[in-house]
Amino acid sequence: LASVEVDVSSLQPGSSLIVKWRGKPVVVRNRTEKEMKDGEAVSLSDLKDPIARNANLPADAPATDANRTTPGKEAWMVMVQVCTHLGCIPLGQEGDFGGWFCPCHGSQYDTSGRIRKGPAPENMAIPVFKFISDTKILIG
Ligand code: FES
Repeated sequence: LASVEVDVSSLQPGSSLIVKWRGKPVVVRNRTEKEMKDGEAVSLSDLKDPIARNANLPADAPATDANRTTPGKEAWMVMVQVCTHLGCIPLGQEGDFGGWFCPCHGSQYDTSGRIRKGPAPENMAIPVFKFISDTKILIG
């Protein structure tokens, strides 16, 4: 399917669901207050990949926590959950940064899905998406 509608009404802070979009797993996570704060606290100079990799923004947008989310809905991560190293599926809420951990070769991503440690070269990709209501997201 070119686009997928996701009902997120059941997602409490700290929970996620995964949908398939164009053959890839896309995670939708309602982040906790702490996850958001941890993401915001990171300075751009500490990032291995300083680019947002957010298909909703210009290609050179910096990888701030805000630029990894969407305005007014900063709790929500919508992200292609595929490691940018060799394409394994990272595990959520694992690893040193409380974000995602890739079991294949140990890449670690933070709570904004930005690569922080290990061989992966880029932040995980944010697909084109938008909230079409308070409880529904359209991906693609
Ligand atoms: Fe994820 Fe290699 S595929 S670290």
